[in-house]
Amino acid sequence: MQTFIFAHRGASKLAPENTMAAFTLAQKMGADGIETDVQLTKDQVPILIHDETLHRTTNGTGYVKDYTFEELKKLDAGKWFSEKYAGERLLGLEEFLEWVSSTSLSLNIELKNNIIDYKDIEDNVLELIKHYGVAERTIISSFNPNSIKRFKRLSKEIECACLTSRRPKDLKSLIEQTKANALHINYNALSKGLMKEAKRLHLPVRTYTVNRPSRLMRAYKLMLDGIFTDVPHSAIEYRELYLH
Ligand code: G3P
Ligand code: MG
Repeated sequence: MQTFIFAHRGASKLAPENTMAAFTLAQKMGADGIETDVQLTKDQVPILIHDETLHRTTNGTGYVKDYTFEELKKLDAGKWFSEKYAGERLLGLEEFLEWVSSTSLSLNIELKNNIIDYKDIEDNVLELIKHYGVAERTIISSFNPNSIKRFKRLSKEIECACLTSRRPKDLKSLIEQTKANALHINYNALSKGLMKEAKRLHLPVRTYTVNRPSRLMRAYKLMLDGIFTDVPHSAIEYRELYLH
């Protein structure tokens, strides 16, 4: 089994996170898939941005939820990263999926609803996934277990993962309650014990965020199902080294 490489927010070390520039760069580097974060606008449009607020990654201020999609599309989402990327825009999930459907990339859509529990985000996202015919290559994840439960009720077919920054106290009951198909866990919470427990439960494990060579090599040794990395080119290089 080969560890699957997801570009975390695109190739986000080299281009502004969650923009078309970061996604197309990840594709060029040869990533197997792309991870992205989804929030909802004031008019309930799923939009790709990591934070609930705008100031870190755009020239806007305030909360994503307080602006319409049209208003948010006017913001610059690249200049904060470097002058070279001035003019990059925030992307709607819809345009992203349209692009993904023209590639062979897999994707992990992370619902960012652990701080703001956006109403109906699951339905909105599911509708777009179906429309663009990418259900079989999509994984939905969230730090909010109730959201995973809701998503699995709406769609049994699409793979869902519980996200966690610590080893769950009772992994078995978390999986039973949410009906999740996988665990996405912080690298710092990884251990051989967890891997054994997951194996017993036949549960795929993927980890975030793995950038350093020593960590990449450990992730490959632990035979993780997938990693999320800001440097897909380097992750690919070290995977080759590990395999040979
Ligand atoms: O989905 C993996 C990872 O992206 C979760 O953390 O904060 O980078 O979205 P974060
Ligand atoms: Mg994320």
